[in-house]
Amino acid sequence: MKKNILIVGASSGIGLELARHYVGEGHRVCITGRNDPSLPGAQFFRLPITTSTDNLAKGIDGLVAAFKNVHTLVYAAGFLQRGSIDVLPDAALLTMANVGLIAPMMLAARLKPLAPTPLKLMLITSSSGYTPRPQEPAYAATKAGLAMLGASLVRDLGFGKVLVVAPSGIRTAFWRETDEDTSTMLDPIWTAEQIVALSSGPFKYKYAKILRNPARVEVVEKLDNAFAAID
Ligand SMILES: NC(=O)c1ccc[n+]([C@@H]2O[C@H](COP(=O)([O-])OP(=O)(O)OC[C@H]3O[C@@H](n4cnc5c(N)ncnc54)[C@H](OP(=O)(O)O)[C@@H]3O)[C@@H](O)[C@H]2O)c1
Repeated sequence: MKKNILIVGASSGIGLELARHYVGEGHRVCITGRNDPSLPGAQFFRLPITTSTDNLAKGIDGLVAAFKNVHTLVYAAGFLQRGSIDVLPDAALLTMANVGLIAPMMLAARLKPLAPTPLKLMLITSSSGYTPRPQEPAYAATKAGLAMLGASLVRDLGFGKVLVVAPSGIRTAFWRETDEDTSTMLDPIWTAEQIVALSSGPFKYKYAKILRNPARVEVVEKLDNAFAAID
């Protein structure tokens, strides 16, 4: 069945590789970001996420109006933010909270009642979501929160399959403003292939880590039906 797939944060990196894959399979795909990657076959919607939650809500309302009948939401937006908590200005904290948590919550809230079938979620978190890092406090907190958002929504019968993926370092534009050695990081095409494979087949909830050196996938938790998911 051809699906309508919305990928938030797909102007580069993992989101873009996932978009290429789904366009190649003939699905209708809408991608967002601040910069249009001009991906043939995909619709682009400019969704800048800043400190303003009001602007975010307006942007998301526009997105939901522009791309209807979403079967699957892939949430891939994220950015590197380093610094101990006392050096991160309020604006940095607000932007991180909006990108990492408020946007996916607003999207889930709006898309759930409109979805033609129970909304499938694919949420990209990070090893920072389960590895406390004092130099990435807000990033780590939003990634841990995003994983818990997925685990909570799967217990809401209005949602379909929920996949939460926590990758380790991937060779993408994420690192562009650093001098980090990305040579031993995960290949983004391989990582996207693993995410597609993890999202396929019958399951209700899956939480998986994608690890490096060596590159491998570890499924941490899998539930096969909604009743198993409800405590
Ligand atoms: N690369 C890694 O090592 C790594 C490791 C673990 C987890 N992750 C996570 O994997 C996901 C994908 O990252 P990636 O590695 O593919 O990096 P990427 O190439 O930098 O992609 C990040 C995406 O998020 C969007 N984005 C970032 N900040 C935004 C903002 N303020 N407003 C709107 N869109 C914004 C970017 O779009 P624009 O720039 O066009 O706005 C881009 O499409 C992220 O959630 C990241 O946290 C990455």
